[in-house]
Amino acid sequence: MHASFGGVVPEVASRAHLELINPIVQQALSKAGVSGGTVNAVAATIGPGLMGSLLVGVSAAKALALVWGVPFIGINHLEAHLYACFLEDSSLEFPLAVLLVSGGHTILVLMEDYSRYRVLGQTLDDAAGEAFDKVSRFLGLGYPGGPAIEKAAADGDDEAIVFPRAMLHEGYNFSFSGIKTSVVRYVRAHPKVENRDVAACFQKSVVDVLITKATKAAEEFDVKGLCLAGGVAANSLLRKRVEEECARMGIKSLIPSRIMCTDNAAMVACTAWWRIQHDQAAPFLDIEKTVLATPVDPGLTLPV
Ligand code: KG4
Ligand code: ZN
Repeated sequence: MHASFGGVVPEVASRAHLELINPIVQQALSKAGVSGGTVNAVAATIGPGLMGSLLVGVSAAKALALVWGVPFIGINHLEAHLYACFLEDSSLEFPLAVLLVSGGHTILVLMEDYSRYRVLGQTLDDAAGEAFDKVSRFLGLGYPGGPAIEKAAADGDDEAIVFPRAMLHEGYNFSFSGIKTSVVRYVRAHPKVENRDVAACFQKSVVDVLITKATKAAEEFDVKGLCLAGGVAANSLLRKRVEEECARMGIKSLIPSRIMCTDNAAMVACTAWWRIQHDQAAPFLDIEKTVLATPVDPGLTLPV
């Protein structure tokens, strides 16, 4: 649906949420073989994200919590991406370095314990996924850009063009708007260049920057493992490079399966589950001055 618009149109997204929320909840319950009475809490993303879609999710979750008489737990979307790493491997040891790369964010986080985070760096302009989406749109490869670029890059020569690796050795912040401009300039100056070569070189350049900073953080903070999270973590080259670097450093690599990397509800439930186990309100990255996670409410009072 979004592909026909070349991106997510907020109004279209919130209408689709409204139409699909009830059937999806029904389907999830019947697939899991549980009824509302056996659910112990209802969690929903409270931000950051598109206000219209968030409102639909939060309203539906609060209504279910009220009817079932269980607490509502508000979850930060970025924190949920981090917890996707714990869905398939709960034997993690701290500290962990987490590279969170999505369509809206690119953040390097030091996770010192459950709910204890330190943001080491983040993008100063475009997110990594946003760069994939914009370059893909420019090349006419479609939306979402990440999978389209990855597919085109598979047969490309990743040494054909050298695109810039911005701020490569300058701390832990990132910048991805410059590479997008240099792709546009290069293609305009070389109209015969093959899309697959541009895609391969662009992808390599973005992955190089992400890997350089993530491994630097892993070494500096002497972490036990490096986790990959967010939609861009579905990228095969990035996954392969993380595995190689972790093997070289002798630390654990934590890469969720692809379906758990892009936005999903399981990671939101997983975060809520950890919150309940540890009975704490997690103060998470207040990066966009978003609403902070709502504390677990043992009673029936629902946060407004
Ligand atoms: O986490 P996510 O599903 O949504 C946000 O919270 O933003 O991430 C979506 C982003 C999009 O920019 C998409 O192009 C990118 O993740 N993405 C990829 C791949 N699959 C999705 N980027 C690179 N390679 C992929 N295979
Ligand atoms: Zn996301």
